[in-house]
Amino acid sequence: MKKIQRLAVLTSGGDAPGMNAAIRSVVRTAINENITVFGVYGGYKGLMEGEVMPLSRRSVSNILQKGGTFLKTSRSEAFCHQAGRRRAAATLKEWDINDLIVIGGDGSFHGAHALYNEHNVNVIGIPGTIDNDIYGTDLTIGYDTAVHTALSSIDKIRDTATSHDRLFLVEVMGRRAGFIALEVGICGGAEEILVPEKETTIDDLGKHIRNWSKAGKTSSLIVVAEGHKLGTASEIAKSIKDLSNIDCHVCVLGHTQRGGSPTATDRLLASRLGYHAVQALIKGKSDVMVGWINDHVTYTPLPDTWEKKKPLDEELLKIYGIISA
Ligand code: F6P
Repeated sequence: MKKIQRLAVLTSGGDAPGMNAAIRSVVRTAINENITVFGVYGGYKGLMEGEVMPLSRRSVSNILQKGGTFLKTSRSEAFCHQAGRRRAAATLKEWDINDLIVIGGDGSFHGAHALYNEHNVNVIGIPGTIDNDIYGTDLTIGYDTAVHTALSSIDKIRDTATSHDRLFLVEVMGRRAGFIALEVGICGGAEEILVPEKETTIDDLGKHIRNWSKAGKTSSLIVVAEGHKLGTASEIAKSIKDLSNIDCHVCVLGHTQRGGSPTATDRLLASRLGYHAVQALIKGKSDVMVGWINDHVTYTPLPDTWEKKKPLDEELLKIYGIISA
């Protein structure tokens, strides 16, 4: 067991519902262990600029149910360079802090790993991103809420698609991964789901759409993951029109998927991982991400979280192939 006097927590990269619940859990667990805890405002940018504030149990009251992150977040280009990281390490030194918990996605973990390597800062990552594209955890904080948010939009689009006998292409987030698209597509009864992990052609899509019509379908819905090789939903709609002369309506759900009150699943995951992140530091761990796999806490070396690929659920892909359309 290591005696830790002071630690800091920050959120970085795209915000995700449940980040506040994770901060709250980190702060209260740390205080329970007699550790003085500090919040860094504005992610790595704030760390470089010295935006550090002490946090108390009361500073994190009433944030559990709120989307976004009250510590604010950023994507910092300057922190990707050694000079930026030197400034960030100097801030930590000034505050006499050598233990840092980073809540974010793989870009944030790259930064944490560099701080550990170059400046000997003890770092623990907590996976917070709606994309769920992090190796070493079944779920990332924010993913479950994003799926619920996207699904409620898809149900609404289905109503209007049915009323007008229209074909809709709905684009969801996910960066280069199809986790949100696959789950939302299955739960929303999409006729087709386009994920970056599986190749398809415009020609095939045209054929499928014609088959649905022949089978008596008058409206349909295709979920498109951003990052698909065929392009954005708008580009795919244009290609379908050009090649097969079929009209498609397009709806891009965009940043609506990042907001909103976190689901119970996300609050629970965030509360667990916040607690375990502090315990990991006390156990002397560093340069690892705390994750949750099969109902157990796990520790994954930070580089593995981006170097190893988390696969889509093959069985879900198979099931979707059978029950869609
Ligand atoms: O990583 C989360 C995410 O929402 C991705 O799904 C999306 O590609 C990206 O962030 C958008 O980032 P920004 O809000 O910086 O445009």
